[in-house]
Amino acid sequence: MSLAGRRVVLGVSGGIASYKACTIARLLTKAGAHVDVVLTSAGAEFVRPVTFEALTGRPVLSSLWDRGRALDHVRLADDPELIIVAPATANLIARCAQGIADDALCAILLARASAVLLAPAMNDKMYANEITQQNIAALKARGWETVGPEVGALAEGPSDLPGRMSEPEDIFAVAERKLLGGGALSGKRVLVSAGPTREGMDPVRVITNRSSGLMGIEVAREAYSRGADVTLVMGPTSLPPPYGVGTIRVESTVDLAAAIADHVSHADVFVMAAAPADYKPVEVSADKLARSNGRLSVELEPTLDILESTAPERKADCFCVGFALEAGDNIERAREKMRRKRLDLVVYNRVDIEGAGFEVATNRVTLMTKDGEQELPLMAKRAVAHKLFDVIEAGV
Ligand code: CTP
Repeated sequence: MSLAGRRVVLGVSGGIASYKACTIARLLTKAGAHVDVVLTSAGAEFVRPVTFEALTGRPVLSSLWDRGRALDHVRLADDPELIIVAPATANLIARCAQGIADDALCAILLARASAVLLAPAMNDKMYANEITQQNIAALKARGWETVGPEVGALAEGPSDLPGRMSEPEDIFAVAERKLLGGGALSGKRVLVSAGPTREGMDPVRVITNRSSGLMGIEVAREAYSRGADVTLVMGPTSLPPPYGVGTIRVESTVDLAAAIADHVSHADVFVMAAAPADYKPVEVSADKLARSNGRLSVELEPTLDILESTAPERKADCFCVGFALEAGDNIERAREKMRRKRLDLVVYNRVDIEGAGFEVATNRVTLMTKDGEQELPLMAKRAVAHKLFDVIEAGV
């Protein structure tokens, strides 16, 4: 629960994207935040207060005139650490830019003590209009921040201009970074690798492994939420990269090694979560190998141990993390990898434990440093990444 006990106001104005605010409320609440939803009257035309009350477990403020809640807009201006407005319509933005406080949400925004994150959402021509642009610029000049809008389908049809609200998961990621990003990792360069590699045999066939890339993706997501400047080098996987992270896609171990070599000397933290193929075919056939009824032997040669090869290139104070995936109870092998690859931390996990390793959303790991070992229970990979960065943050 990355946002346990954090206080957030979610303002919802009225547009077709209002329904997506339900997902934002859900993501914030699931992460442990106390979410007070404030609906404009137009917002309440799209989503009823009871929906948000069920999602957040807290009462919704939708009018300055609600009986018994006369001063709630004053409390909600002082109390939260962050106010997110999603969707922020052209009308809401214009009212804020003019300092108008004719409903509960605008009154809170005018009296606020906390940071504001707006997620604009409107018709593309309304967004492009100079008046809207000036209003947004005026609010930004006063320290308000925005996420999106994106180019993409609008309710009225496809568009190649910005107007569509950013996805709820992306708005959540930016909000999380605003709430968590002030620590030791703020502004640090974090390099992460994720996923398998693929070694070609011919134009059609490859040798690969079962890594999904999820562990490395969650590591990159966690680093972004803590304010880091993150580069993710990702082998072939169908999973999307996290929001806000510079992503380089690679295919083979040679490509992965080259991308890592380009970035590793600048990294303050390097987490090698990828599962590069350890062997590749000695020869790659230019044509598709024809099938025959006899056996086929493919000669393999070892690939470069990327992590070990980067040791001389890393900055002296680079905090370097490797994974050790072992078949069976073999912590001594993990220790040997830590020494040989010159690592500050090893994430030791086992292929033979249910719910751990490849192709699952959870992992069960032991975090090993020179100071000792921390055995963690089975948990979601994002939670593993959270624990990992607690140790990294103490070490950078
Ligand atoms: N690793 C690497 N380059 C490779 C293979 C692995 O950089 N060619 C990295 C992995 O990303 C991981 C660490 O080295 O961070 C350990 O990987 P692991 O598969 O556990 O060990 P290997 O070194 O490949 O040895 P083995 O397969 O014999 O256990």
